[in-house]
Amino acid sequence: MTAPDFFAKKSRGERIVMITACDYPSAYYADQAGVDALLVGDSLAMTVLGHSSTIPLTLDEMIHHVRAVCRAQPNALVIADMPFLTYQGSQDQAVLNCGRLIKEGGAAAVKLEGGSHVAPLIRRVIQAGIPVMGHVGLQPQSVHATGGWRVQGRKPEAARTILEDARALQDAGVFGIVVEMVPVELAAVLTRSLYVPTIGIGAGVACDGQVQLFHDLIGMYPAFTPRHTRKYVDAGTMVTDALRAYAADVRGGAFPSEENTFHQPDLGDDASWSS
Ligand code: KIV
Repeated sequence: MTAPDFFAKKSRGERIVMITACDYPSAYYADQAGVDALLVGDSLAMTVLGHSSTIPLTLDEMIHHVRAVCRAQPNALVIADMPFLTYQGSQDQAVLNCGRLIKEGGAAAVKLEGGSHVAPLIRRVIQAGIPVMGHVGLQPQSVHATGGWRVQGRKPEAARTILEDARALQDAGVFGIVVEMVPVELAAVLTRSLYVPTIGIGAGVACDGQVQLFHDLIGMYPAFTPRHTRKYVDAGTMVTDALRAYAADVRGGAFPSEENTFHQPDLGDDASWSS
């Protein structure tokens, strides 16, 4: 899967499947499931590192996780999120920071949040040979400014701004746009009026593809479950039950058993070697 394949999929009417991945096992299993793209999203600040928002994540931490994802050698396209304040300063620095995710991390593309105001930067990054994915609607790095984790674009004026932002990203050359937490009616207009694929999360079924957080889909994020997700397996409960059984076995002497045990009989007879 490559960035240009996103356009081909949209033109064939094939839905694009994207999942976040933040380490070797999540990348391995998501790729085995045949997803099209793995997003090393900055949501890993919350789902993996336990922060209450995406804001504290650093570029070095992101690179560390991108490397682990790439070690799974996935067929899926690996897209790395630009953490907060790694692209809001000078454009020169932002291009270099994007480059680190590709050169040091091994990602094939980057994603950054924002509308018209990031379009000039996106042009520069693309000129450097790095495919860019946009992100409109709810932008988690701006939750302090926008007043929390709320559905965006409910009023016609706000919806128009999101449409204009998405058009600016398309004109700048992005290969896809994440559309987060907007009414399905707005997502449908975006999807119809853009030739760039829209990848929804909390944006209903009208988008060209969907992205979900790995930890939400498998029930491994205990802090909260967003309304837009579906828990396909309650791995959190399964893991807790399994580890509870392990703890009980250790306490009761049932683990390790004979099959987990190595023997060397001549060490045990009279233990003469020990004195
Ligand atoms: O960081 C992330 O996981 C994301 C998704 C919400 C699309 O950006």
